[in-house]
Amino acid sequence: MLNMTPYPNSNLASTARLIKPQQTAQPLSNKSFEDWRKYIYDNCGILFQENKKYLLESRLQKRVSHLGFTSFDEYFDHVRFSTAGRDEKKYLYEAITINETFFFRNQPQLDALVTTILPPIIQAKEKFGKSKIRIWSAASSSGEEAYSVAISIIDLLKPKFPNLEIEIVGTDISNAVVETAKKGIYKDYSTRNTSGYYLKKYFRKVDGGLEIDPNIKKLVTFKVMNLYDDISMKSMMNFDVIFCANVLIYFDAQSKIKVIANLYNSLNKSGFLFIGYSETLHNISKAFKLVSFPKTIGYQKE
Ligand SMILES: C[S@@+](CC[C@H](N)C(=O)[O-])C[C@H]1O[C@@H](n2cnc3c(N)ncnc32)[C@H](O)[C@@H]1O
Repeated sequence: MLNMTPYPNSNLASTARLIKPQQTAQPLSNKSFEDWRKYIYDNCGILFQENKKYLLESRLQKRVSHLGFTSFDEYFDHVRFSTAGRDEKKYLYEAITINETFFFRNQPQLDALVTTILPPIIQAKEKFGKSKIRIWSAASSSGEEAYSVAISIIDLLKPKFPNLEIEIVGTDISNAVVETAKKGIYKDYSTRNTSGYYLKKYFRKVDGGLEIDPNIKKLVTFKVMNLYDDISMKSMMNFDVIFCANVLIYFDAQSKIKVIANLYNSLNKSGFLFIGYSETLHNISKAFKLVSFPKTIGYQKE
């Protein structure tokens, strides 16, 4: 059980008390680890397994030292109870998440998208005088997945469907990666899997790396969003395709069931969900039809 007394672990007198950087905190106690893992799980669905105490400790350590706390319990109270704690939550999420991503990370999914999935959807929409497709990169990290989708559609589909309108939304719980995504400037590491053809056509060299072409950038919007927050999830509706890759691995079964049920509701009828190579919906959802494509599978809303 969490101790709900305001600032029970602290003798904080003022905000100035917080800004005493680079102290060394006492080690994370077992009790504090339990409090933290429950709090993180309840707030964003990420489960730190019982054997991951040292991992969580090392992730939190930077913020604890930066803010000058002498214990993880003091930091816990700060995040939960202080006004500044509301802002601190974003740094907490940045500290505990893994944001690894790169352009064209899952080429078979992109191939399935442009060759098989989207053409009939576009044709069906055009019959009703509509021309907009909507795609969501959920847990988009710094934006590489969302921009890869945009590049693939512009390069391979737009010539066949000149009236096509494209709306791509990227969301992530971490404010820092969302800001990077909005800038659209990347280091070589991010483009290591990108063909010379695409690099030449859709990127230009700038100070600090390679910048995405403005015509691609304008198709994609990014915002901070927690996939574990039911209210935010209900605002994400009518998507033709959702990519939610390499984030389910951080959730336990209950969190996955909740997130996947919400993603199902966010899809249009017959829309598709793609997840990561190493992820599965086995025992998580029976609502989707499994569809095979060359070297990948997709989950279709029936
Ligand atoms: C490994 S990256 C995956 C990026 C991209 N989808 C890909 O496959 O390359 C996982 C992302 O999930 C985000 N994340 C973790 N928990 C989340 C949550 N509850 N809501 C939204 N995003 C979350 C992290 O911030 C991180 O950027």
